[in-house]
This record gives sequence, structure tokens and C-alpha cells, in this order.
Amino acid sequence: MSGPVILPRVIRTRAELSAALETAPRPVGLVPTMGALHEGHASLIRRARADNRTAIVTIFVNPRQFNEVADFDKYPRDEEMDLRTCGSAGADLVFVPGVDEIYPPGFQTSVRVGTLAEPLEGVARPGHFDGVTTVVAILLGLVRADRAYFGQKDAQQLLILRRMAADLGIGTEIAACPIVRAPDGLALSSRNARLGPEQRAAAPILRVALTAARARYGAGERNGEVLRRVMRDTLATEPLASPEYVSCADTATLLELDHVSGAALLSMAVRFGDVRLIDNDLLP
Ligand code: PAF
Repeated sequence: MSGPVILPRVIRTRAELSAALETAPRPVGLVPTMGALHEGHASLIRRARADNRTAIVTIFVNPRQFNEVADFDKYPRDEEMDLRTCGSAGADLVFVPGVDEIYPPGFQTSVRVGTLAEPLEGVARPGHFDGVTTVVAILLGLVRADRAYFGQKDAQQLLILRRMAADLGIGTEIAACPIVRAPDGLALSSRNARLGPEQRAAAPILRVALTAARARYGAGERNGEVLRRVMRDTLATEPLASPEYVSCADTATLLELDHVSGAALLSMAVRFGDVRLIDNDLLP
């Protein structure tokens, strides 16, 4: 039987954070989140806990990375539940800042990564990655963690954050954690809760499409367009799925590949009604 969850210490201001960091044993691991925590986030926190002497989670629904105000407004927020998840996964500290703590009055800086932010998610969500890189640069600056943990599910975000950390000489190691999936293969996401029952039953088709492309690759196929077509054809078997993009891209540049000779990122965004899901797989 598991005992009661020990809730972690919550801090809300830059000043409290900086005071807490003075005595926090190093190394420090950071897990930046927007809350609505699920088992995927818990796996990041457990990893931060295992690798470091202090594990810090941040919960901040970042207005700058939303394309629509309505989307930001309806983003799920349940601090008490999130703190329980943080506690049971082993977080020591949870930083839950208000908007003014992250973007103080007069704030006018923005961090922008170049061409990596343009394809795939960048097409449908203009400005989204500028919001992500700006907030993560601030969080890395405030926490000065030894390591920061991000999910492989947001593969483009991960690549962009690694580029940003290297370009700006940010000393924090950017660590990637594997995608966590439901038993039927659907990648965990806060958005899954918004799927209706039929959409939820149909949603594992993303994983099925990735698996089909991987199988073709395993059988020797190296033509990028053929691998994209395998994914598109698989998605087309599910009437509730409306694909937005399907990609087989270079893992360093995110440019579409004609021929796969080394590593490749298979990825896709698919709509089920107004719920947009993404998934990916890394070849080989
Ligand atoms: O992946 C997320 O949840 C967010 O983009 C992040 C990295 C916490 C920045 O707000």
C-alpha cells in the first residue's frame, strides 16, 4: 500500500525561488510544464528526481505560446491535482509564478530560433515557438538548473530548445524523455481528455501509421515520399482523422527527406474535430 502523498513546497515569486535555490542541494533538475499533468509529465519528474539531488517543477500556462486567447482561456488548470502528481513523482519544489513574475512590467525581450521553428508545428502555429523559447530561456535563467527535462513527444520543441541552449551558451543540459503511451498506443497528452468516445477510440491511428512506416523502413524502404505515403494511407483508413501534416524529415534540419540515409523523424499532426493531436517516431 502506498502512503499519503507528501506535497512539495510551492513557491510563487522570483525572490522566493532565488532564496530556495541558495540552499538546494545540487545537481538541480528542472521540469518545465504548463500543468494539466499526466503520466508523461510524471515520468519527466521521476527522471529529474532520479538524476539529481533537487527536482524542481514549474507550472506556468504561458500566454505567449498560444495562438488564440480562447485556447489559452480554456487550457485546463487544476493546481491541487498537479501538486499531488508532483509530490508523488518526487518533486521537492514547485514554482507556480503569476504572469508578472515571468513577464515583469516593461518586459520586452523575445528569444527566437530561426528556420527550425518554421516547418511542421510552425506552419499551423505561427509565433508559438517564439513563446516557448522565450519562456524556457527565462525559466532556465531563473533556475540555473544542471539539467532540464522535456518529452520526446514534442520533438520539434526539443530540437529548438537544444539549438537555443547551444546558441546562447546556456549551461543547462537539455535531456529528452521517451513518449509515454496509453495501452492502446495513443501518446499521452492533456488534449486527449477533450476527445469524445468515438474520437478517443479512433486516435491510436497516429501510432498505427507510425508503426506502418517503421515496418516499411524495416523492410528496406528508404524513399521519404513512400514512407510519408504509407502514413497518409494508414490515416485515410480512419474517417474521424483529418491529417494536417505528415512528415519524414532530417533530424537536424527538419527538412523533408527524399531519401533516408541516416536518422529521420517521422511526425504528424492530425485533427479529430477541434482536437489536434501530434505524434512522432525516430528512425532507425
Ligand atoms: O511543453 C510544454 O509544456 C511547454 O511548451 C513548455 C516547455 C513548458 C513551455 O511553456
